[in-house]
Amino acid sequence: MIAHANKPKTFYVKILRQDGPGKPSYWQRFELDYEPELNVISVLQKIAAKAKTSSGQKTTPVCWDCGCLEEVCGACTMIINGRVRQSCSALVDKLLEDGLEIELRPMTKFPVVRDLFVDRSRMFTALKKIKGWIPADGYYDLGPGPKQSRYDQEVAYPLSECMTCGCCVEACPQYGKIELTQRSGESDEAFEDRKTDAYTSGFVGPAAISQVVLFNLHPTGKMIARDRLDVMAQEGGIQICGNAQNCVAVCPKKIPLTMSIGKIGRQTTFNTLRRWFDRGAKAH
Ligand code: SF4
Ligand code: SF4
Ligand code: FES
Repeated sequence: MIAHANKPKTFYVKILRQDGPGKPSYWQRFELDYEPELNVISVLQKIAAKAKTSSGQKTTPVCWDCGCLEEVCGACTMIINGRVRQSCSALVDKLLEDGLEIELRPMTKFPVVRDLFVDRSRMFTALKKIKGWIPADGYYDLGPGPKQSRYDQEVAYPLSECMTCGCCVEACPQYGKIELTQRSGESDEAFEDRKTDAYTSGFVGPAAISQVVLFNLHPTGKMIARDRLDVMAQEGGIQICGNAQNCVAVCPKKIPLTMSIGKIGRQTTFNTLRRWFDRGAKAH
């Protein structure tokens, strides 16, 4: 923390801005009065209210996304002083220990909507692809479900903390950015379909692989465990992972991603062999 006697009068925030999808990016610098116990979200609110750069030029308010303000929703993730993290839990006093300027950039693996606001819908497409849900059908009382062992609960709990924030895919060298632009005359619906197709064939990423472990561990979720493992063997599945382990190092929830990747890698191989045997048995 900044010692009281050393507190600066002002500090700077440098932001990589972009006026819309596919537009060129540019830097802007803002000067703010120092106050103790600010976080990056409160800094962005002050910048929006001020709408003036450090050289006095009038500008539009910087755009960002946030929801919970307590590191649960994952929406406020950005690159702060070179490190991908949540802006709601990034404390200014701590950041200023490295110098009087804070640098903010949007994540690089997702299309920019505007400024620091990115479109993470590819991650949600991956969750749909792996059937990241418990198949409990019907609106009537189904009665109590099967019990889960204490051991499985303890393995599942940390995995359930994933907030689809994107830190792991930002750090993953195998997760390339997919950004499409709407063609002239293309309807919104056709554009959305084309995006979904592109996202579906891209690498699902470590967060979705870890959610396969979570849902396959659940006593009801495991009813479609083999469907999820089939997805892991398809285009964009686990074979893309190069095991660099960057993902696990940046996860703010300390989710054991490499354990999940190892487990799903073994289960996918076994499942694929079983599918071959099943097909062979049917042919005879
Ligand atoms: S696994 Fe961790 S880093 Fe990746 S999306 Fe989930 S919470 Fe974020
Ligand atoms: S271990 Fe796999 S998923 Fe994680 S960063 Fe490396 S390549 Fe990406
Ligand atoms: S606002 Fe939800 S994680 Fe930061």
